[in-house]
Amino acid sequence: MLSPRTRLCDLLGIEVPLLNAPMTPQAGGALARAVAEAGAFGMLGFDEDESDDEIAAQLALLAVPPRPRFGIGLAAWVLDRSPHLLATAIAAKPALISISFGDPAPYAKRVRDAGILLASQVQSRARAQQALDAGVDILVAQGTEAGGHTGAVGTLPLLQIVLDMTDRPVLAAGGIASGRGYAAVIAAGAAGAWVGTPFLLATESRSTPQARARILAADETQTVLTDVFDRAQRKPWPAEFRGRALRNAFESEWHDRAGEVDDAARARFAAAKAARDLDVAHVYAGESVGLLRAERPARDIVETLANDAAACLRAVEVVERV
Ligand SMILES: Cc1cc2nc3c(=O)[nH]c(=O)nc-3n(C[C@H](O)[C@H](O)[C@H](O)COP(=O)(O)O)c2cc1C
Repeated sequence: MLSPRTRLCDLLGIEVPLLNAPMTPQAGGALARAVAEAGAFGMLGFDEDESDDEIAAQLALLAVPPRPRFGIGLAAWVLDRSPHLLATAIAAKPALISISFGDPAPYAKRVRDAGILLASQVQSRARAQQALDAGVDILVAQGTEAGGHTGAVGTLPLLQIVLDMTDRPVLAAGGIASGRGYAAVIAAGAAGAWVGTPFLLATESRSTPQARARILAADETQTVLTDVFDRAQRKPWPAEFRGRALRNAFESEWHDRAGEVDDAARARFAAAKAARDLDVAHVYAGESVGLLRAERPARDIVETLANDAAACLRAVEVVERV
């Protein structure tokens, strides 16, 4: 197997400079382990929607020997209201914690004092500066193409901006689903790729069969950046971050209507979520859905990305002009 190699490999003790994104709740312990066993870096995401028992069950999957190195992703605004999640994350002894979607500064010292690397996804120059000021070890330039909550700037412009701001390792997130995309960000100077949407279809992810079918059927034109699903669940996401999801009937109905989703619609949404009715409930996924063709083991996803990126990078001819 071929792979690009960057300084992220030594920093995280990995062979392939690639991380699966901490997708809550789809990226659990089984996915993080499978990604680690394939030579990349596995992450899991959790938030206040999951019970302590559910979180413990996912972490237990990573405690089984041989214990892989792994990371945990958290959202800053969720920590502000549920600070116990940081204690849970630190107690699990991950190699990396990411704190995104808000200022990581209030939590940085506790992470660093525990000997854990700190990363943060940033969506603008201002957010990148905030993360640098907080002393994060790794920045993740998260473009608007990304699945789940994100900002409004495309991966490529954002990556160029953030790379120019710092010598610290910068990863690229958003829209990377083939060796071509992976090679592009590595060639630009990214220390690695932070990949979410393709791992929703990993056999080890916690995606439901219903969501897998929707993702497989969707093309690249069928996502939307929306706060409708947050309004429907009364989730107080900062206005700057909206969620990229597959379009559905509920989103279309409420897209142009500002303010609160009414009580009847919220009840309809809650029932649909429980029943996995995805004409109403959400499937967060990025624009790279248009590249996904099949469910595959995580190892297969990692190896294909690494091999194909290496081939792309090798194929570039560089000449000296005289
Ligand atoms: C279903 C889903 C859930 C996500 N949940 C989280 C999360 O809990 N925490 C987080 O930091 N990022 C989360 N993200 C964003 C990812 O970390 C990452 O930025 C994104 O998946 C990268 O773009 P891609 O989906 O195009 O690969 C989520 C993404 C998806 C698709």
